[in-house]
Amino acid sequence: MAKAIYIAGRGRVGAALVRHFGRQAVPCRVLKSGWEKRPPKRGYLFLAVPDAAVERICREVYPTTPKGLTLVHFAGGLSISRERTHLLHPFASMGPESEFGRLWCLWHGPADGGFERFLTAHHFHVIRRESMPGPGYHAAAVLAGNFPQYLFLAGLELLRREGFSDDESKRLLTQLVETSLLGAREGGVGTLTGPAARGDRAVMEREIAFLEKTAPRIAVLYRALSELIAQAVGHGEILD
Ligand SMILES: NC(=O)c1ccc[n+]([C@@H]2O[C@H](COP(=O)([O-])OP(=O)(O)OC[C@H]3O[C@@H](n4cnc5c(N)ncnc54)[C@H](OP(=O)(O)O)[C@@H]3O)[C@@H](O)[C@H]2O)c1
Repeated sequence: MAKAIYIAGRGRVGAALVRHFGRQAVPCRVLKSGWEKRPPKRGYLFLAVPDAAVERICREVYPTTPKGLTLVHFAGGLSISRERTHLLHPFASMGPESEFGRLWCLWHGPADGGFERFLTAHHFHVIRRESMPGPGYHAAAVLAGNFPQYLFLAGLELLRREGFSDDESKRLLTQLVETSLLGAREGGVGTLTGPAARGDRAVMEREIAFLEKTAPRIAVLYRALSELIAQAVGHGEILD
C-alpha cells in the first residue's frame, strides 16, 4: 500500500511539492497550523518550512513520532544526519514556475530502499551523498545562485536609472547572464571577461567613482570582486 504523504509549509518549496504530486494525481495532505501537537504517525512528512523550524521540529517533534514516520526536509544549509530523516535539497531558486520533475536535488539520509523507490516512482531527480557535505556545499549555492540574483536586480536598477525601459533592461541583462554563464561553465577561468579580467584600470576606476556616489556599498563589492577576478586571471585559480 502507498505510504501517506504529508506536507508542512506552503511557501515556495511546499507549493512546488503540492504541484508536483498534483500533476501525478498522487494524494498528499497539507498540514494545518498546530499540526505539531498531533504529528502524523506513519508515511512521509515533508517539512517545507524555514530552516529554523526544521531544526526545532527535528529537536522537539521528531522524538515524539513513531518509527513509521519518515521526515524529509529541504534545508541544504543544515547538517542533520539521523534515522528516518532525509535531506532533499533542490539546488535551485524555487518560485511559482518551479517543477521538481525538472530539477536536480541532493539527497542525503540513511540508506533506505523504500525511500529511494519513492523518489524514483515520483520523478525526483537526485544526486545521492552518503555523508552530509560541509558548509562549502550550501555556500556554493549562495555564491552561484543567490548573489547573482541580487546583482541582476542591481544591474536592472542601474539600467533603469540610465533611461532604459524595463523590457530593454531585462533583454540586455538576460543575454549577458546567459552568455557569461555558458562561457564560464565550458571554459573556466580563461573565459572571464570584463574590465578586471582585461586589466582596464581606467574604466574600473571611473565606474567605482560613479558607484561611490550612487551606491557606495556596491562600489565596495565592485572593487573587491574586481581584485578577485584580476587575481584569478593572473594565477589561473578561482579561490585564493
Ligand atoms: N526557496 C528556495 O529557493 C529553496 C531552495 C532550496 C531549499 N529551500 C529550503 O526549503 C525550505 C522552505 O523554504 P521556502 O523558500 O519554501 O520557504 P517559504 O517560502 O518562506 O515558506 C515557508 C512556509 O512554511 C510555513 N511554516 C513556518 N513554520 C511552519 C510550521 N511549523 N508548520 C507548517 N508551516 C510552517 C510558513 O508559513 P507562515 O509564512 O505563515 O509562517 C511558509 O508558508 C527551507 O528549509 C529552505 O532552506 C528553499
